[in-house]
Amino acid sequence: MNIIMFGPPGAGKGTQSEHIQTQYNIKMLSTGDMLRAEVASESELGLKLKSILDSGKLVSDEVIIELIANCISEPGCQKGFILDGFPRTVAQAEALDDMLQHMARKIDHVFSLEVDQNALLERIKKRAEETGGARSDDNEDVLKNRLQVYQEQTAPILPYYEAKGVLHKVDGMQPIEEVTSQIDGYLKAKAA
Ligand code: AP5
Ligand code: MG
Repeated sequence: MNIIMFGPPGAGKGTQSEHIQTQYNIKMLSTGDMLRAEVASESELGLKLKSILDSGKLVSDEVIIELIANCISEPGCQKGFILDGFPRTVAQAEALDDMLQHMARKIDHVFSLEVDQNALLERIKKRAEETGGARSDDNEDVLKNRLQVYQEQTAPILPYYEAKGVLHKVDGMQPIEEVTSQIDGYLKAKAA
């Protein structure tokens, strides 16, 4: 089972992906987590990535597509994967389709978490407080950029998956457990 967790910054992609990873024993691949790990390693690439992440802009398609291509071909992804934060551009979505076609696999579900803009800001502010600012992009100014990038470059992917009949819109304003249960409902319906 191959899943995409989709939504604006702070919508709950990471939170819900972790749940599916545990419940269904399929691997979660978070491009944001991978990029932050690279930054933390202080490698040459990490230093270049840091300024992009801090600005809220997107890392180049080339870097991200190579990262994901390496991950999904690993044995740990044989049973399936949950993509958290990828694809984020039409070019990434098309590259993903090419990769999957070569592997005779496909995307089974895209969950689009829908959350009001004000709630996103509240969640990001709360996380910044709780983690002592662990993420340098968790502040109001950068969030504005992340949201703009989402609207301009990422949201236009949705019709692509809608046309494939795999898109499920999920009310991400509900409590975490309710969101999880709505997603579970779709996964169980497909498995039945
Ligand atoms: P990324 O790490 O993907 O960040 P993001 O999309 O901005 O999203 P977040 O991780 O902030 O939010 P989330 O949706 O995972 O929500 P979460 O579960 O944490 O990307 C960071 C950067 O990396 C990008 O800006 C870009 O530079 C780069 N990048 C990454 N992927 C890329 C790609 N494919 N191409 C190019 N560049 C890329 O929840 C947020 C908070 O809300 C948490 O505190 C959580 O506890 C809480 N919460 C969750 N659900 C609920 C709920 N239902 N009710 C109340 N609170 C909730
Ligand atoms: Mg996340």
